[in-house]
Amino acid sequence: MLRNYHDMVIHVRGVERNNVDVSASCVVLRYVPTPQKAGYVFNSVQELAQKLREAKYVIDPITLQVVYLAARMRKPLLIEGPPGCGKTELAYAVAAAGGATVERLQCYEGITEEKAIGKFDESLQRIFLETEKESLGQNWCVIREQLHSLDFFSEGPLLRALRHRDRPCVLLVDELDKVDHAFEALLLEILSAWQVTVPKLGTIKAETVPFVVLSSNEERRLGDPLRRRCMYLRFEYPTVEREIEILKVRSESQEPALLGQMAGLAHALRGWNMEKPPSIAEMLDLAEALRLLGVKEIMPERRDVLLPLLAKTEADRGRLLLREGFEGLIIDSKMYRDKLLRPAAAG
Ligand SMILES: Nc1ncnc2c1ncn2[C@@H]1O[C@H](COP(=O)(O)OP(=O)(O)OP(=O)(O)O)[C@@H](O)[C@H]1O
Ligand SMILES: [Mg+2]
Repeated sequence: MLRNYHDMVIHVRGVERNNVDVSASCVVLRYVPTPQKAGYVFNSVQELAQKLREAKYVIDPITLQVVYLAARMRKPLLIEGPPGCGKTELAYAVAAAGGATVERLQCYEGITEEKAIGKFDESLQRIFLETEKESLGQNWCVIREQLHSLDFFSEGPLLRALRHRDRPCVLLVDELDKVDHAFEALLLEILSAWQVTVPKLGTIKAETVPFVVLSSNEERRLGDPLRRRCMYLRFEYPTVEREIEILKVRSESQEPALLGQMAGLAHALRGWNMEKPPSIAEMLDLAEALRLLGVKEIMPERRDVLLPLLAKTEADRGRLLLREGFEGLIIDSKMYRDKLLRPAAAG
């Protein structure tokens, strides 16, 4: 049996690895993985910048350096900010940049530990007991150990993230503000000790440390113990210039004048005190809609067909339906566009 394992140590349930109680009545051999290699490292800020560019993620120089430091220092990144502004996408872009697998835990109210970490597969345990009846022997202690091993554990994203070995892993805990305090506390062990403790299974240490992104839309304030373990990023709506870059890399629209007008319109709408201002994601939808309609310039006459893309609440819709409201925004969008195009035209 031992020949199948390279790295066996004596492990007694409930007793720490290096502190084996030899008097314990039930001693079993258990595989304990080598813990905590640095799983995720970029060699330089420039390398990360290049790879994020290839992943089509537009990032400002400061955020870039923070992401680099988080990867090097093995610190989770906590990102807060309005919806549709690139929080989730950053996790995917970093994964693409590092050739990593993404383990995503989508949070929601009432999420359980079982969903996040995993649970014993009872039907598999039953099948095992039935089919291996003959060879199992009489030692209940050994049988119990076997049944409560990872072989019979159906792993959730948190545990999977700690057990990646061949490829680096990005663990995305998305919309963490939806969970309650108890679940938030569960993350603390993972994020500081890089291990997770499961009743009957024991403590599983990370084989490699994942790059962790925690995102929140701030429906609930996350606790300070969690915050202190993270590096914090606040995402806001982008500047007109940065939004043009995003529209350029993420949409098929390449016409500078239209890109400038769309980014200008986004800026004008966000300054208009809307109930639900349009996000980057919605401006990308607008770009696609304009492409499909063959529109090269947004004119006030397009209001009714563009409204479902730009106004997502009754109140916002009502305000945009006021003719002068929409017209005024279009005038502003052209002003931003012309301001941006002017240096290029002069040059
Ligand atoms: N900096 C960026 N570079 C490139 N694309 C971006 C960037 N920010 C946002 N996007 C685009 O916007 C879309 C929405 O972003 P994302 O899903 O990350 O938003 P979010 O902040 O996670 O929103 P929510 O809080 O609603 O989940 C992405 O799929 C991507 O196409
Ligand atoms: Mg998201």
